[in-house]
Amino acid sequence: MEAKSSAVKVEGLSRRFGSIEALKEISFEIPTGTVFGLLGPNGSGKTTTIRLLLGLLEPSGGRAEVLGMDPIRQGNSVREACGALLEHTGLYERLTAEDNLEFYGKVWHMPKPERAARIEELLNSIGLWERRKEVVGGWSRGMKQKLAVARALLHRPRLVFLDEPTAGLDPVASAALREDLLRLAEQSGVTVFLTTHNLSEAEKLCSQVGVLREGRLLAVGAPEELRGRKGSQRVEIFGRGLTGEALLAQLNALPEVVGARQANQHLVIDLTEDADSAEVVRFLVMQGAAVDEVRKTGTSLEDVFLALMEEQK
Ligand SMILES: Nc1ncnc2c1ncn2[C@@H]1O[C@H](COP(=O)(O)OP(=O)(O)O)[C@@H](O)[C@H]1O
Ligand SMILES: [Mg+2]
Repeated sequence: MEAKSSAVKVEGLSRRFGSIEALKEISFEIPTGTVFGLLGPNGSGKTTTIRLLLGLLEPSGGRAEVLGMDPIRQGNSVREACGALLEHTGLYERLTAEDNLEFYGKVWHMPKPERAARIEELLNSIGLWERRKEVVGGWSRGMKQKLAVARALLHRPRLVFLDEPTAGLDPVASAALREDLLRLAEQSGVTVFLTTHNLSEAEKLCSQVGVLREGRLLAVGAPEELRGRKGSQRVEIFGRGLTGEALLAQLNALPEVVGARQANQHLVIDLTEDADSAEVVRFLVMQGAAVDEVRKTGTSLEDVFLALMEEQK
């Protein structure tokens, strides 16, 4: 069994465009059957990474292995074994949903009965079976994007690349697409490589996340590992007598406090990794505050991401 093998292996991968270093020696591995998210702001090199992995671009340095193949020398085989949803949905606006999938099923040389069964299965799974006879040109962006994901998964690829699959979708449509994605990934055991600049999305979908900034991979790990790693803990303190600039200044001067701020009548305090929140509570009480409740909220991936983005370049 190859259950433990890597679907993608990247070592020191680099790519320049003239004087622009779009990717700088990035390395990571994606275990088979997992959902990996490449997270980064616009221009950080996400799409370039996907294009390199699909053999649509050649690296300036380093190497990649995709499903055990070399995307440069075996580009066609890589692209046949993978599904991809890049910037464009690849859908024909004037065709019905069903005919779009039919078309791609033929492109992939899927035999008719298998094609029909797979199309029905996918359309059911994304809740669009009843609407299969509709021309997709009139559909919402969310529906089109769902269909585009189904299109990418049609030929049962072992690995699927999704470049910012929820970009431009409203929160409801994004959430619906994420649910479909997770269900489809689970059902089929497909390895998913997706990019996003949306942190909470990465947190919801991905078991592993890589954080990219200006072509450098700053961190790779499970979202909860990355959260733990920036070494801060957050506590929210509720009560009375917690307001005032002077108190905030005193808090911020404490060695165990990374940052303290006021939010809606309560305090939000980021503490250093090994700080004891009880010390801070004691300090507040000594200043005359009445503390009702202390909530440890931890840090979000967003905090980690912003911290990584702000670290000296
Ligand atoms: N074909 C190209 N020619 C020149 N520069 C490019 C090309 N493709 C990407 N770049 C540059 O490489 C960097 C990374 O781009 P890209 O991978 O598209 O980022 P992202 O997908 O994270 O927004 C950007 O500075 C972009 O302008
Ligand atoms: Mg991009």
